[in-house]
Amino acid sequence: MDKIGIIGIGNMGGAIAKALCEEKKNLIIYNRTESDMDGFKGIDNVTIAKSNVDLVKQAKYIIIAVKPVVCPTVAKEIKDYLTDESVVISIAASYTLEKMERLFPGRKIVIGMPNMPAIVMEAMSAICPNDRLNENELKDVIEIFSSFGEVTELDEDKFAAFTAVCGSLPAYIYMFIEAAADAAVLNGMNRKDSYRFIAQTVLGSSKLILEGKEHPAKLKDDVTSPSGTTIEGLKVLEAHGFRSGIIEALNEAAKKYREM
Ligand SMILES: NC(=O)c1ccc[n+]([C@@H]2O[C@H](COP(=O)([O-])OP(=O)(O)OC[C@H]3O[C@@H](n4cnc5c(N)ncnc54)[C@H](OP(=O)(O)O)[C@@H]3O)[C@@H](O)[C@H]2O)c1
Repeated sequence: MDKIGIIGIGNMGGAIAKALCEEKKNLIIYNRTESDMDGFKGIDNVTIAKSNVDLVKQAKYIIIAVKPVVCPTVAKEIKDYLTDESVVISIAASYTLEKMERLFPGRKIVIGMPNMPAIVMEAMSAICPNDRLNENELKDVIEIFSSFGEVTELDEDKFAAFTAVCGSLPAYIYMFIEAAADAAVLNGMNRKDSYRFIAQTVLGSSKLILEGKEHPAKLKDDVTSPSGTTIEGLKVLEAHGFRSGIIEALNEAAKKYREM
């Protein structure tokens, strides 16, 4: 694959860079604060660029991993150095294809939405290319996103829903884990063990859906024995609006995405 450039080595850019390094991809990176790239110095397949422009001159695939508010500044800096072969990949929340095409007129563009588990190479990402990419370029982009988890090609009108259920959801899952650990501590368990036990339970429960392909309602029913402990807790969750709370939270996240 041609050289991949990453602009912005923060949480997400750093995770993507680490994954691509492990895949031995030909990589070039640049970050405003130089010291943030220290961990990548001396790695065979990684070049540290002198600037964003230097990076763009060397890479075919250019992943922009800066905060959304910084994207126009970066675009202004690099746009005159892109060629007809460059593929610009944005992972900035709210940057639609239309918005990107305004920043990079006439260029090959992909909008992508990874999520935080990219750090452990278990992301769920969505991508949507414009119609300028050829088949091989699209294959390469899928390979790039696959290096840090699962990826799906998605119509742009599904990005608001996707960002809510994959981008925001990790935060709510962490809140859920934290609250469950509070309950465990309240009942005498130490916090460290609680986090480990609960996280493994969330992981295993997810695997049952991914691998067993069972309906979540059936799995819930299987855990809920007559007159047992689970149904007692379930009754309380229903009384506190657990389901509607989740639906409303994710709906608000999707709404906010559309307004940005
Ligand atoms: N975090 C997530 O879960 C997540 C999920 C999906 C998508 N995203 C998207 O990913 C993007 C990055 O998010 P993040 O959480 O990784 O942010 P972050 O940790 O703040 O990383 C952004 C990085 O960009 C660097 N930077 C700022 N201006 C620059 C410039 N002009 N040239 C080169 N580098 C520059 C920053 O360096 P300094 O240290 O100098 O500021 C920082 O290291 C955002 O657009 C976000 O919407 C994030």
